[in-house]
Amino acid sequence: MPDVVFEPFKIKSVEPINFSTVEERKAWLKEAGYNMFGLPAERVMIDLLTDSGTSAMSHNQWAALISGDESYAGSKDFYALERVAREIFQKDIVIPVHQGRAGEHLVFSTLLKKGDIVPSNSHFDTTGANIEDCGAEALNLPTKEGLDPFLVHPFKGNMDTEALKRLLKEKREHVPFVMLTITNNTGGGQPVSYRNISEVRKICDSYSLPLFIDGCRFAENAYFIKLRENGFNNLSAKVIAQKTLSLADLVIFSAKKDAFANIGGLVCLNDPELAERLKNRLVVTEGFATYGGLAGRDLAAIAQGLLEITDEHYLKYRLRTIEWMVERLAAEDIPVLRPAGGHALYIDADSFFPNIPPENFPGIALVNELYIRGGIRAVELGNVAFGKRDKDGKHIFPRLDLVRLAMPRRVYTEAHAAYVVEHIKALYRERDKVSGWVFDKEAPVLRHFRSTFKPA
Ligand SMILES: Cc1ncc(COP(=O)(O)O)c(C=O)c1O
Repeated sequence: MPDVVFEPFKIKSVEPINFSTVEERKAWLKEAGYNMFGLPAERVMIDLLTDSGTSAMSHNQWAALISGDESYAGSKDFYALERVAREIFQKDIVIPVHQGRAGEHLVFSTLLKKGDIVPSNSHFDTTGANIEDCGAEALNLPTKEGLDPFLVHPFKGNMDTEALKRLLKEKREHVPFVMLTITNNTGGGQPVSYRNISEVRKICDSYSLPLFIDGCRFAENAYFIKLRENGFNNLSAKVIAQKTLSLADLVIFSAKKDAFANIGGLVCLNDPELAERLKNRLVVTEGFATYGGLAGRDLAAIAQGLLEITDEHYLKYRLRTIEWMVERLAAEDIPVLRPAGGHALYIDADSFFPNIPPENFPGIALVNELYIRGGIRAVELGNVAFGKRDKDGKHIFPRLDLVRLAMPRRVYTEAHAAYVVEHIKALYRERDKVSGWVFDKEAPVLRHFRSTFKPA
């Protein structure tokens, strides 16, 4: 058998791409204030802004939408979702919410108080923001391997368990629970090993602490474990996912990722008392406990998506897509994060454009050039997104100045991926010709969403 990994689906409904010229895109980008978030999506040819909520649904998901039961209480689709979610997440109680951060808000606003500390391998930005919104500290404890962008290591998403032990020895009384994000999005979509999750579980047990998993990309993480961790090769991705998730007391899940859904989320847990408190809050903020802010048809699409996501033909193709792109870029010495993550490729913009100083935002230069040249939309997750100012207004920059190109699930083919790779390669060859940017209007928080820029 020739070893060619191909898209494990046939395409029966398509959305045409609007082709545009370099001149048109220059004008549109100016109109958008040189910010990717200001661009109407119709003006983008290949949209790699996010993998969240952008999946192509299957024919079975579309069929499930049509037969969605829109009853306010007790929709049949809630019970279908509950059955599937109980099996995957290994929890008795399933609470729907409208997306991942609604689950974060629900759980954290119920459990956290000022002065608490929540350690994690790395919190996603909405997770950190929701923790801090409760007056608590979101503490990241990645491993030293996870901090090196170019070091090849199988599990760069792991938590530093020694750092966790040190924290708990000193400050146990301030820690209400421990979190793990799988895969580790902030750390580059890198996986967390089963061994690491088990170790964290044991540490939690020794301090009588619950473990919460942010499981947005649990299926990608499970397939990484199957490929890379001793003793897991003969287990199915679904069984590995179940084993992994059963180590958590509570799972927060954004169905916009590993459920192929365009909206939705879940909180899954075993503790009936906590579930009561969450459901009582839910009815005030999201809706009744059998719909949680979602339409019945959304519940149905999530249930069907959860049945499809652990298909290994899909997961093999999914991880190989990113790996294939990273291999081609790394072969040209382009500073791309290694090894490939599960859902996105990340470029170190600072090393890509050594001629552009950090205060002239190399990441903005990279995303703007990719858009002008190729109609490709990526996102800056570096000096603009995670940078701050000190009290004198001087820039404080994050450790890495990254640009992320996230692949929506089942949306683009290998030829689209090749088009993106060729544009990045061509831009890299001409990197000396590119100059930087400064703020035109600087947004006060989450600066990448709403700031505008002008040439430096
Ligand atoms: C790891 C992680 N956690 C939480 C979230 C928040 O989920 P949502 O966008 O559904 O609110 C995201 C979204 O990208 C994520 O990647």
